[in-house]
Amino acid sequence: MPPRKRSSLPAWQELKRHHREMSGVHMRELFKEDPGRAKNFSLETDDVYVDFSRHRITSRTLDLLVALAGETDIEGAVTQMYDGACVNRTEQCPALHTALRLPERRRLVIEGRDIPSEVRRELERMENFVSTLRAGKLTGWTGKPIDTLVNIGIGGSDLGPRLVTEALEHYRAQAPGVHFVANVDADEIESVLRVSSPETTLFAVSSKSFATRETLRNAATAGKWLVERGCRDVSKHFIALTANPAAAVEFGIGNEHIFKFWEWVGGRYSVWSVIGLPVAASIGMVNFREFLGGAHRMDEHFKSQPLRRNLPVILGLLDIWNLNFFKAAALAVIPYARSLKLLPDYIGQLMMESNGKSLTLAGAKVGYETSAVVWGGTGTNVQHAFLQLLHQGTRLIPVDFLAPLSGRDGEEEHHRLLLANCIAQSRALMAGNADSGKEKIPRYRVVAGNKPSTTILFRKLTPRVLGALLALYEHRTFVQGHLWGINPFDQWGVELGKTLAVGIADDLAGTQTIGDYDASTAELIRRYRESGGEGE
Ligand code: F6P
Repeated sequence: MPPRKRSSLPAWQELKRHHREMSGVHMRELFKEDPGRAKNFSLETDDVYVDFSRHRITSRTLDLLVALAGETDIEGAVTQMYDGACVNRTEQCPALHTALRLPERRRLVIEGRDIPSEVRRELERMENFVSTLRAGKLTGWTGKPIDTLVNIGIGGSDLGPRLVTEALEHYRAQAPGVHFVANVDADEIESVLRVSSPETTLFAVSSKSFATRETLRNAATAGKWLVERGCRDVSKHFIALTANPAAAVEFGIGNEHIFKFWEWVGGRYSVWSVIGLPVAASIGMVNFREFLGGAHRMDEHFKSQPLRRNLPVILGLLDIWNLNFFKAAALAVIPYARSLKLLPDYIGQLMMESNGKSLTLAGAKVGYETSAVVWGGTGTNVQHAFLQLLHQGTRLIPVDFLAPLSGRDGEEEHHRLLLANCIAQSRALMAGNADSGKEKIPRYRVVAGNKPSTTILFRKLTPRVLGALLALYEHRTFVQGHLWGINPFDQWGVELGKTLAVGIADDLAGTQTIGDYDASTAELIRRYRESGGEGE
């Protein structure tokens, strides 16, 4: 029996009525009515403090949202996911990224397989390899120690490791240089090869499928670069991080250089697996395990906390409230921390590739909006870019502000200015300037306020805090998908473009009659051919 359409549930209907009541309420009034609002609408764990008081909600709103979560049996869904049920129905597999960060003692057997033991074994293989690499004992074809690791991967095989390596840059020690190549635009791999030595560079081909054309193209170019510079044992300069070891062997990578993960790890949920090897190479395994530990603590929070005190549940419910009732179309993610500049891109793939769907699990059209358009940038830079639209534009765009309470040692003045701007922006979005008390301001200067935002604070960006933050967003994404009744773990929408690109690439390269396309595609192909196709 397929689940009832979410929008027909009693709590959803009640929320529609409640939304009409709330539409005319300004958050300024809510703060005036309840001096304890910040305390009553915030939650914290050992790692993060989350202030969601600047949303257009009352206690009744939360009661109704929590009732909606209860009517969809969110708790049952969490248990199913954690226990390895086949939650990714179209790909017939579990979604067990939480198993990648289980502590040693936990047991989880699926179809006779002891999952934590398999995870532990592969993590130990990765640990041994990373220790050898970081000790300068891994040598290239001329016997020189490897001092550079180039990760070749895209999407979840790039965004996660790139974000975490960059965010934890100040934890780097005794480490090889780590670079990332994702785009098939040759400019990207050229920019890395130009600063690398063929004798001391190791390429990590990171690809769950080991079939992504951009990644294989870049890997082939890396191999050619080595051979052209005299390398007589290319196998010493490649490792594979993949769920398809057979394809890696066929590519020419030896088993001892293949680090595996599993079908039940989605690409955008894979940084916790061997896909995180570049992170461990940069910050060491002790810090990488801290990163896993922070995520596990959030997993425990998600599984154990009552809905009203459950961070991923509350944040996911607020997304539903803003997107499905206030008709917001986007979510801006704005970290006030340069080290988190890739976080908006990472969360963009996580949320939009998970929940950019329009069919329910039962195969019916959803009948309501699903994922927001997720983008962002770092504060304070975005204050000089797109914040104008959020303050005085015609759209309602909720914001996630994230900031560390402590900055770089000895730079308190910088950090106070950074944090002051973060807090000022969320206040301005909420309160506007109508009650600034000054003389009447001209209309073009009015900032209406009543724009929702969440502020997430943490003491310092440590591996554990970052692990907790990314797990928080993973589970929030799961809550969204569950509440929309969709499958957040597949991504069939990306297949068509990949398939079309194969034929178009052949047509661009060929001289035969251009294939049967629409007039625009045909003309674009013709113009490439006419241009001669190569650089001037
Ligand atoms: O974008 C589609 C996708 O499959 C992502 O889900 C994935 O992270 C990316 O492409 C790369 O896939 P792979 O790791 O198999 O190369």
